[in-house]
Amino acid sequence: MSYDEKGKGGAAGPGQDQDKLNTELINIIQFSEKVATALCRKMDRAEVLGAVEKEFTGSGKYTGSVLLLAEDRDNLEIAVSSVSSSDKKGFLEKMTGNSLSKYKISLDKSKIYGKVVREAQTLHVKVSDIIDELYPGPIAKLISVTLGYEKEVTILTPIWVRGSVGGVFAMTAPVLAELAVPSVKNLAAYISFALESASQRVEQEKADAEIRKLSAAVEQSIDGIAICDMECALTYVNNAFAGIHGYSPDEMIGMKATDIYSEEQTKNAAGRGGLNELQRCWGEETTHYRKDKTTFTALMSFTLLKDKNGNPIGHLAVIRDITERKTMEEELKKAQKLESLGILAGGIAHNFNNILTVVVGNISLAKMNMRAGEEAYETLSTAEKACLRARGLTQQLLTFSKGDSTIAEPIDIAVLIRDSAVSALNGSGVKCDFSIPDDLYSVSADKGQISQAINNLVINAEQAMPEGGTVRITAENVELGQGHGLPISSGKYVKTTVKDQGEGIPKENLAKIFDPFFTTRPKGSGLGLSVAFAIVKKHGGHISAESALGDGAAFHVYLPAM
Ligand SMILES: Nc1ncnc2c1ncn2[C@@H]1O[C@H](COP(=O)(O)OP(=O)(O)O)[C@@H](O)[C@H]1O
Ligand SMILES: [Mg+2]
Repeated sequence: MSYDEKGKGGAAGPGQDQDKLNTELINIIQFSEKVATALCRKMDRAEVLGAVEKEFTGSGKYTGSVLLLAEDRDNLEIAVSSVSSSDKKGFLEKMTGNSLSKYKISLDKSKIYGKVVREAQTLHVKVSDIIDELYPGPIAKLISVTLGYEKEVTILTPIWVRGSVGGVFAMTAPVLAELAVPSVKNLAAYISFALESASQRVEQEKADAEIRKLSAAVEQSIDGIAICDMECALTYVNNAFAGIHGYSPDEMIGMKATDIYSEEQTKNAAGRGGLNELQRCWGEETTHYRKDKTTFTALMSFTLLKDKNGNPIGHLAVIRDITERKTMEEELKKAQKLESLGILAGGIAHNFNNILTVVVGNISLAKMNMRAGEEAYETLSTAEKACLRARGLTQQLLTFSKGDSTIAEPIDIAVLIRDSAVSALNGSGVKCDFSIPDDLYSVSADKGQISQAINNLVINAEQAMPEGGTVRITAENVELGQGHGLPISSGKYVKTTVKDQGEGIPKENLAKIFDPFFTTRPKGSGLGLSVAFAIVKKHGGHISAESALGDGAAFHVYLPAM
């Protein structure tokens, strides 16, 4: 009969003496307190169930079982039962031909269990009634008689999991009056609570591990990742994001996006409805400010973050510093431009050179028939000089052309640098200062061409110092590792630097000086640097310029070591 249906049951049954009942009740209350104490520090499901089993087995007079709903929610499975540690177990298993741990109770077939689970009722029934429901007639009778179940009573009450019935707690004893129901329900509540906190702990640990994994990934990402609130104040930045901007992560928290995001970009964003309204955008090239007020170009993605209810709560920004990539692209463009120009220039130069040879040859012949000092002789000499200058130029142009062969042989680069520089500065008021170690790597190169490249750089340096000064030439061994940012492969190089004390190169010219025919000098050809560039490139090396206005210019030449 249902305890809940009747409200508070309490009267002693006929023939049961009140004192005995009171003692029994006190025993049950004390026992359930004891179980509660045992459960309170159990960390996982197995420990909780183990404690239930241990306490019931230890009691010597109560049998306790916890049955939990199977995944299908139509069957109960025995999670633990102190029967399994008593001598009744063997008999029951023999009768049913099944191991107790595999035993399932169908809620459709068992009215008693069905009521407890599906109607959340607490029942106070004779054990034999349960046995009758679970086993066929003759076997049920045999079990009840043999195990003395006819005299025993069970209280069945729900186990609660997340607010709904998740199983059944059953407590059995020879004397178990309805008076004991509140204590048994209480005990079921303790067990429910212990099981639920155990499973929550497991879930929490899983969630924690997941969060740790994700945050480690975000922390260690090489892309900069940041979160800002709706007022565009940064609430999170990863190491990369802070590093790219030259700050520590702590320093950045609370800063406004506009502190690192150029004004123009912010205006652009505002033009599209404001940062706050941006839902999602990808691949914007943006300009960012570093702590030291320098700028860099980044590729940025922007995503509006929403809470569970779909309300916007901030933005997620992922950025990548693409300054290096941009530089590489520029370098590549430059090289490609030079290559196509080179084909053209080289072709013209070749033909032109042949014509000049004929002109120079004929001028020489004509001069042979004259005397020095004659007017026509001087005129021809001037023409001859101009022709030779023109041939020098076409010779330079020829270095661009693919056809111009490079003779690669091991060279003593230290000697070559000194000789070319000294001869370039011969008779000029500019001094040369060398810093070249003895142990430079060996280089395999075309002596004549490398000499010309150095010569061109030194001549430029000299021309940059009309009042005189010193050209500083240094050479060193360098090893370029991963991500060195130059358009050449990693490895060992000899790096030669030619630095002067002239005016320097204005920023707007820096990108153009290697272009063929770019010159700022009245008598310049604009070929010196483009030729040097072509030569160095042909050798698998790289040349770059560096200059701060007023602080001279420095040219770095990388030649691959053997
Ligand atoms: N050392 C330097 N200092 C300042 N400007 C330089 C230097 N080297 C090259 N430049 C600039 O680069 C331009 C191109 O140089 P280059 O190709 O050698 O041609 P040119 O010397 O005939 O002008 C020069 O006109 C000058 O503006
Ligand atoms: Mg020059």
